[in-house]
Amino acid sequence: MESMYFEDGRLFVLDQTKLPNEIEYFTPKKKEDYYYAIKSLQVRGAPAIGIFAGYAMALLNEDKRKLKEYLDSSRPTAVNLSYATGRMLKAYEEGKNLLDEARAIHNEDIDMCRKISEYGLSLLKDGDGILTHCNAGELATSKYGTGLGPLLLGKEKGYNFHAFTDETRPLLQGARLTSFELEKAGIDVTLICDNMAGLVMKQGKINAVLVGTDRIAANGDIANKIGTSSVAILANYYNIPFYVLGPYSTIDYNCKTGDDIVIEEREAAEIKNMWYEKPMALPETKCYNPAFDVTDNELITAIITDRGILKPPYDISLENIRDND
Ligand code: MRU
Repeated sequence: MESMYFEDGRLFVLDQTKLPNEIEYFTPKKKEDYYYAIKSLQVRGAPAIGIFAGYAMALLNEDKRKLKEYLDSSRPTAVNLSYATGRMLKAYEEGKNLLDEARAIHNEDIDMCRKISEYGLSLLKDGDGILTHCNAGELATSKYGTGLGPLLLGKEKGYNFHAFTDETRPLLQGARLTSFELEKAGIDVTLICDNMAGLVMKQGKINAVLVGTDRIAANGDIANKIGTSSVAILANYYNIPFYVLGPYSTIDYNCKTGDDIVIEEREAAEIKNMWYEKPMALPETKCYNPAFDVTDNELITAIITDRGILKPPYDISLENIRDND
């Protein structure tokens, strides 16, 4: 299912906050609509946010520099957002056609996801049990996805995987989005709570963990949805490969280590109120709700990009695929 598409001069965007119960596309009009769509996770997943922001820069009749700053401030962790707005600003300053540039960002993502999926699939065997965290499928990108790409491409090629999808508290992207996407694709999927990952690993049901990423630091530390580092620690303990999948544009060579990555913090209401009829904690109870965490590079078996499968030491393998610019 497409996270967004451009047709007859209009952008149609799937409202992911309504999934899995309603499938509804909307067309943002003002800059505030674009900002709100990213902030509220109507559009989410690092590459999808970048593609969406690219269209915003093309379609809105605003001061492009100010618009870039405004959109970049909606969610700080995914580097794809500032990458796309930066590229659009440059295209504007060079007098290029902005809609063509936005479409190019969109089409390049399809191509990158396909390559990432092919590389990821080469590391898996038919019948493998795969643990996923958050949502890194088509909804989070353009097509195939990153973390889910090998499963979706594998299905097309006749592989039969057994996916275990953790719910991914607090916003349930695993339950609402990943299990939905995999069911629709006809892939065997079992939904588990986040705190069950250790059990299914111990039971021998998991052959590999596949996750996406919002930012890769120059030393191979990665930021991804909160809970990713706990899954990586468990995978390490049980000797299960932990694979991170993401496009070249997710690598931030300006971040030396994961300590330099800005982590978004979100409202306490997402933990206490969001999915319940009544609040699940007292109003005065303090909450800490970081949206992402950093997984140390030594827990990562391989980083799979559209430029190939990178192995440790990541400071060297990441440097080897770096553009000279
Ligand atoms: O908060 P979200 O839903 O935007 O978080 C998304 C993730 O953590 C994804 O794994 C990440 O963006 C990579 S998407 C291909």
